[in-house]
Amino acid sequence: MDQTQAPIYQALEEFRKMRVVPFDVPGHKRGRGNPELAKLLGETCVNMDVNSMKPLDNLCHPVSVIRQAEELAAEAFGAAHAFLMVGGTTSAVQSMVLSVVKRGEKIILPRNVHRSVMGALVLCGAIPVYVNPECDPRLGIPLGMKVSEVERAIRDNPDAKAVLVNNPTYYGICSDLRAIVALAHAHGMLCLADEAHGTHFYFHPDLPVSAMEAGADLASVSMHKSGGSLTQSSLLLTGPNVSPGHVRQIINLTQTTSASYLLLSSLDIARRNLALRGREEFGRVMELADYARKEINAIGGYYAFSKELCNGDSVYDFDVTKLSVNTLEVGLAGIEVYDLLRDEYDIQIEFGDLGNILAYLSIGDRPREVERLVSAMSEVRRRFGKSRAGLMDQEYIDPHVAVSPQDAFYAPSESLPLEETAGRVCSEFVMCYPPGIPILAPGETITPQILDYIRYAKDKGCSMTGPEDPDILHLNVLKGGA
Ligand SMILES: Cc1ncc(COP(=O)(O)O)c(C=O)c1O
Repeated sequence: MDQTQAPIYQALEEFRKMRVVPFDVPGHKRGRGNPELAKLLGETCVNMDVNSMKPLDNLCHPVSVIRQAEELAAEAFGAAHAFLMVGGTTSAVQSMVLSVVKRGEKIILPRNVHRSVMGALVLCGAIPVYVNPECDPRLGIPLGMKVSEVERAIRDNPDAKAVLVNNPTYYGICSDLRAIVALAHAHGMLCLADEAHGTHFYFHPDLPVSAMEAGADLASVSMHKSGGSLTQSSLLLTGPNVSPGHVRQIINLTQTTSASYLLLSSLDIARRNLALRGREEFGRVMELADYARKEINAIGGYYAFSKELCNGDSVYDFDVTKLSVNTLEVGLAGIEVYDLLRDEYDIQIEFGDLGNILAYLSIGDRPREVERLVSAMSEVRRRFGKSRAGLMDQEYIDPHVAVSPQDAFYAPSESLPLEETAGRVCSEFVMCYPPGIPILAPGETITPQILDYIRYAKDKGCSMTGPEDPDILHLNVLKGGA
């Protein structure tokens, strides 16, 4: 196929030239009905914000330009089929999970999944079987899934339908995906990959293996993260053993019938850019990240980690574009460094947790910004560094699933003050956002250790989300002490 083509974008350009009179939605009518919006976004944007119609195809049942764009994306990513998604990677992940499990069926997954996975389980009623990832004692971060642990989970749950893998985790850690795919397939299970942070794996041979190359059956790929498309646009990829018609039906259960052409054309253009220039661009990003790591490690205190963590199993590979830095030896929690960089140095990084920060490097980064980050981190250490005493470095807590996420979410519940909830079963989510990995999910038993963690994270200024009570002074638990 000709990867220089961008069929949705080209159709929009043609459509613009036709000067069609709009008696359809959207009601702003090329911005005329909302001059302030037109001024903010510009003529090009508001003219492209149109609805599905014959020359522009329809995302729910693509037959022309959207279909061609999906075929081009499938080829570029080595997939049997690619679905353009406009509800974020959350919608891709949820469609992926809903395509393979239903109420009462089991899915094997690591605990450090994104909230979108847990949301999918609430929606479909499937039962999570957790493979607890090892936790690196120095960094306090969850690692990948050990192949032997996946094997054990499969042996103990031969009726499970699928195994889900993060490829990579937010911090850049990869499990042995090829081996996990082979294991799943050998036991008649499908393998799904959350590749929200792995778009670039498809475009450079020195990066970890991509889900499609490893033989996975479905993968959710955040084009808007490292791929350069507009926020909220994403891809769902399928392998040869998955029925695209079935996946399309699942997607259409929750997908809008008014997909944004700004998002769709951004996916089309981003795919073209990556297919034509991805290798060169990501080669540059890798060099930039290596340089930043070297400089940050030379400051002292910080530990910008990389491939030296690889151990052939729970850290099978590492995504070197991720600038993940442990901050504890500087005497600051990751979230404190995150806040200082923004408040004192006007630098916004991706996230800070209790012991680490992540600066996201991608195709839009230049050396001069990296220099700014390095010098700000050096100053943070000089001005605000302390002794490590008093910092909590345990990040990973084993969950105890008492009830399925769906049953717990919809069960009668009561609201209790946080300190009275130990021993009870939670009926809602609690997470720090970002990274959005649940500390508690519906159906899990609340322990004193979890309560300590929540209090500490709140105290350090982590943005906590999930519960009905936004201040997290109360939590909803199942009624009757169940
Ligand atoms: C691992 C993982 N999966 C899925 C998502 C959901 O992506 P989105 O924000 O595009 O809905 C995220 C978002 O950060 C993520 O980190």
